[in-house]
Order: sequence, then structure tokens, then C-alpha cells
Amino acid sequence: MKLLLLLLLLQVLLLLLVQPTPICVGATPTDPFLSSISAPPSSHISPIASSMATFTPGIEEGSERHQIGSHKIMLIALIVTCTALGVVLLSLLCLWIYHKKFPHKSPKKSYQSNSDGEKGLALGPFVGKFNSTRMVSKKGSVPVIEYKGLEKGTNDFRESNIIGEGGFGCVYKARLDNNLLVAVKKLDCASQDAEREYENEVELLHKIQHPNIITFLGCSINGDSRFIVYELMHNGSVESQLHGHSHGSVLTWPMRMKIALDAARGLEYLHEYCNPPVIHRDLKTSNILLDANFNAKLSDFGLAVADRAKNSKNVKLSGTLGYVAPEYLLDGKLTDKSDVYAFGVVLLELLLGRTPVQKLAPTQCQSIVTWAMPQLTDRSKLPNIVDPVIKDSMDLKHLYQVAAVAVLCVQPEPSYRPLITDVLHSLVPLVPVELGGTLRVTQPGPPGSAPVSPGH
Ligand SMILES: Nc1ncnc2c1ncn2[C@@H]1O[C@H](COP(=O)(O)OP(=O)(O)O)[C@@H](O)[C@H]1O
Ligand SMILES: [Mg+2]
Repeated sequence: MKLLLLLLLLQVLLLLLVQPTPICVGATPTDPFLSSISAPPSSHISPIASSMATFTPGIEEGSERHQIGSHKIMLIALIVTCTALGVVLLSLLCLWIYHKKFPHKSPKKSYQSNSDGEKGLALGPFVGKFNSTRMVSKKGSVPVIEYKGLEKGTNDFRESNIIGEGGFGCVYKARLDNNLLVAVKKLDCASQDAEREYENEVELLHKIQHPNIITFLGCSINGDSRFIVYELMHNGSVESQLHGHSHGSVLTWPMRMKIALDAARGLEYLHEYCNPPVIHRDLKTSNILLDANFNAKLSDFGLAVADRAKNSKNVKLSGTLGYVAPEYLLDGKLTDKSDVYAFGVVLLELLLGRTPVQKLAPTQCQSIVTWAMPQLTDRSKLPNIVDPVIKDSMDLKHLYQVAAVAVLCVQPEPSYRPLITDVLHSLVPLVPVELGGTLRVTQPGPPGSAPVSPGH
């Protein structure tokens, strides 16, 4: 608006400046500004009039009239130019306002971008609350949390505060000064691998914000130990829910479908919306965590790689037995399809309630894929291998669909596996609306009839 006013003012000023010209007709303007804009050599405007004025004294009056006429033309030309300039500036202003209001969305978003806006979810309040805790960091850089606060919050890393165990140390529950409950992963960095994983996780996670990816709150260093602070996931990991003391009894069929959908959403963000894309490389049920409302979030980015490093010799062959895709295990070939394979194994675990690898004998193991594959494709056998805890609780049609998705994900040939986006879209209609999908379950019919849902 200010620019518009300025423009109008400029126009009025210009008009005022050019108005005196008819008075000083024939005179050479002394003002350099006027001379440059309002009095070009008359020969340029009317060569005939100027030549007549020079050689015919009798027609001086006529030449004056001609000069007035040429000045009028000049004035009109000036007004037209000013108006055109005004229009151009106005258009530029409108364009600028439009861009400010609707920032351009590129198909691939950088890590910094937050897709929460797109999905209508907000992480803001949690991070906002956390910001009030004691942190020693520069703006824009990785947040660093004072070690003393972590020591105090975990009761000196007391055993009773341990909520999980990882490859390089334990994860503790901590209450920080502002009363906020967080999870603190302590890594003993005597080994280089631990140091590398710590740096990798911090570097990647601090740039990512998504409702289905664990929120990184900060990090800390004390001697040989490294610490990563996350939001606390009150319901632990999917692994502990499925294979812990409750043996999956807390996770109903719709909840399992929601967990699969949430994990697919997190993975889709890494593969499709991060720039450069990120391959998680260690997707498994112990790295999918559940918050107080059983929203699932991907965690543990120690092995994750940004796509540009894929197939590079620097990427050490890593992963977890049972989840590693065959082409990665055999040839070290790493793509987003390796994550899709691991996702297929997670889906099988949710469906069958079995661990990814079963010990048949002290030296013999069998993967869930090898065991389940023949039965997954046989409709008569499939209901019999479903996790007993959820058996008969789902629409059979949905069970067949999920099994079909899982079978595709664990195909030995990576190109036969779907993209995680395709997986996500096939899961959405199987999850109830209230859990984030599009399934509308109608009221159960008379006793004995199965719950009905609109056909797809
Ligand atoms: N934010 C958290 N909230 C609750 N539990 C967590 C959290 N982070 C990790 N854990 C628990 O700790 C375990 C190990 O954490 P993880 O980050 O996977 O470590 P590692 O890299 O050593 O595998 C997880 O499987 C989970 O049970
Ligand atoms: Mg882990």
C-alpha cells in the first residue's frame, strides 16, 4: 500500500514538474532534470518546424505554436510513460505480495521444510515448551543442552530411569527443569562407530520435522559420552508392544493398521519430501515408537543416509538381520526399496505377531518372509497364521489386502516392490477415519453378522 501511495505521489510530482513547460516555450530549460526529461532537441520532435523557424522569420508565431504543440505531445508522452511505469511497478508489487502470501512449493522439500502444515498437524507447542529449558546453542544451529540438566533429570542416569537399550548405550527417561518429560539416549563413544552414528543422527534429525518422525530436542557431550534428547514416547516401541510382556494384546487390528500407515507416512516423507532424499536403513519394530495416543513415529537415524551418498563405498553395510533386503545384503545395493522391504517385514510382524527371525535350531534361523510367503498367498491358509490376539477381529477382505501389500514389499527383486507412496495409498482406506485413514465403519448389524464397511 505504501508503495502505491508513493507511486501516486511520484506521478503528481511529475505532472507538477512538467506543467510549467508551456510557459517557457522556446526557452532552453535550465534545470538539468527538466532538460533531460522534458525538453529533447526540437529537431527530434519536429524537424520541419525547426527548419522553418530558422529560415523564415515571418512564420515565427507559427513555429511557436508548433513548439507548444510539440510540448503538448511531449507532455502526453510523459504522462503515458509515467502511467505505464506505474502499471509495471504496480504489477511487480502485486506479484511480490502474491509470492509472500503463497510461497512457491517445490515438489521436493528440504529437511527444514515442515510438512505439518500440509498435513494439518502441529509440533509447535511441544517444541515451544521445550525451548524454555536451559539450552546453550546458537540460533539455527543444533540445539545443545547442558549436561548438568540431563544428569539431574535422569537422577544421575539411574537404572530405574532406563526405558530402552540400544547398540551403544541406554535410553533414559528424564524430567527436565521445566517439568518436561523427555527421553535421553546415552552413547558411549569409545568406539568410532558410536561417534559416527551420533553425529549422523544429530545431523539428520535436527533438520527434520514431521508428525511421524521422532522430535529431536537437542544433544550434549560429556567426556566420552554423547547424549541425544528426544520427545518421550510414552508407549515405547512397536517391538516391545508386540513381543514384550503384553504380547500385542494392547494393539487391536485398527491400531496395527494405523501404526503401519503412520510408519509409511514417515517413510514417505524421508523418501519423497526430503531434499536430498533420506534412506532410513534400519527400519524395524524397535525403531518405530508410540506416543501416549499410539501415534507411531520413526526413530533411530544413526544409520540413515542422505540419498546422494547411496551406493557410495563409504556407506558401511549395516542393518538388522531379518529386515535387510537381499540385494543390499548380497551386493550392498542400497535404494529406497531397501526401506520398503524392511517395511514389508514390519507389516508381517503386525499381521502375524511373530518376530522377524525364528530360531529353529542353535545354528539354524528362519526369516518370517520365508516362513510366511507360501501361506500369505493362500486365502484359505492366511486366517490361520494371523496373530492369535487379533484373529477374527478384522474384515477378511482387509486382511487379504494387507497381506498382498506385504507380499509385494518383500519381493526379492527390488523393482517389483512398490514405492512407499503406493503402499501408503493402499493402506489409507483400511484405517478408520478417527485414526487417520478414510475407513468409515458402519454400525454392526444384527448379532452374528460381521462388521460392515463400505466397499472399496
Ligand atoms: N524417545 C523415546 N521414547 C521412548 N523410548 C525410546 C525413545 N527413544 C528410544 N527409546 C527406546 O530405546 C530403544 C533404543 O533406542 P534407539 O534410538 O533405537 O537406540 P539404538 O540406536 O541404540 O538402537 C528403543 O527401541 C526404544 O525402546
Ligand atoms: Mg534402535
